[in-house]
Amino acid sequence: MKIAFFSYKSYDKEWFNKFNEEYGFEFRYFKVKLTEETVVYAKGCDAVCAFVNDDLGRPIIENLAQLGVKMIAMRCAGFNNVDLDATKQHGIKVFRVPAYSPHAVAEHAVALILTLNRKTHKAYNRVREGNFSLERLTGFNLYGKTIGVIGTGKIGAIFCNLMLGFGCKVLAYDLYPNEELKKQGIKYTDLTELLSSSDIVSLNTPLLPETAHMINKYTLNLMKDGAMLINTSRGGLIDTMDAIDALKSGKLGSLGIDVYEQEEGLFFHNLSEKVITDDKISRLLSFPNVLITSHQAFFTREALDEISKVTLQNILDFQKGKDNKNIVLG
Ligand code: NAI
Repeated sequence: MKIAFFSYKSYDKEWFNKFNEEYGFEFRYFKVKLTEETVVYAKGCDAVCAFVNDDLGRPIIENLAQLGVKMIAMRCAGFNNVDLDATKQHGIKVFRVPAYSPHAVAEHAVALILTLNRKTHKAYNRVREGNFSLERLTGFNLYGKTIGVIGTGKIGAIFCNLMLGFGCKVLAYDLYPNEELKKQGIKYTDLTELLSSSDIVSLNTPLLPETAHMINKYTLNLMKDGAMLINTSRGGLIDTMDAIDALKSGKLGSLGIDVYEQEEGLFFHNLSEKVITDDKISRLLSFPNVLITSHQAFFTREALDEISKVTLQNILDFQKGKDNKNIVLG
């Protein structure tokens, strides 16, 4: 099997090469993102290995089909960037890694909360410059606060438990409530009650047509004044302009995001010598109460192990025509 590997980074190559010793696939690594311009690199390959910001819309899928590509191995959980109608129509099978480390993402959400709240990022810089003042570093106790968790799947459920560990009251909203979480003391509510009662809201649903911009000026308005909003799921869950307005008015107290609506072309790249032309991210970066990480919630050694192993096994199962539960059905 020849596999065209798009958007690769040094760590991808390191991890995939290590685990590929057992599998022996032929990888062709491309640093570039999969786009209409770069899709031609997949010529001669049986499969494409892609990541969250690769473009797998209909025109690309049609090109891949013409090039003879029969399988797409997503090395991530989300597949909102894949046109599944197009893959189905062209008989291209799509596989993913459903859960490489839900703990990594849930723990990163906690890291965002603790950093924003206790301002350790500011303290770190201050102290290094000999500034030992505590002015404006005041935080709040997490103990006793109410946390609203939207989406209690694999990541959301772990996040609920972490917050219970801090002594928080946890409210949850999901189309399919988790009975086990209820037994542990998590209370399911409707979205309005969750938003209006929570000191911190964490988004843990996939990006779907029904969840796109679920946080907008109307839902932001339902939130408690000065509440914290955390998003480690997908940028499109939040209407960024509405969040900026809520931050400017003070309605939203703080925002911690690992994902951003227009993150393609920004996240995962070193643009330190370039002019950032995206005014929304520049505005977000100007707020003292906004913390942005560039889609690193998943980024642990354990997660990279799991991503590589499961992706390679998905490719092998596809090659051998074996049943595999990681197939994404259109
Ligand atoms: P999951 O599929 O286990 O859970 C998603 C939950 O959302 C389910 O319980 C589902 O019922 C619920 N849900 C779906 N639509 C909903 C709606 N309209 N209203 C309320 N609840 C709804 O997914 P998992 O593994 O927990 O991942 C969640 C998301 O996290 C992924 O879709 C992905 O976008 C994101 N993610 C981000 C990563 C990062 O590095 N920042 C890494 C991995 C995943």
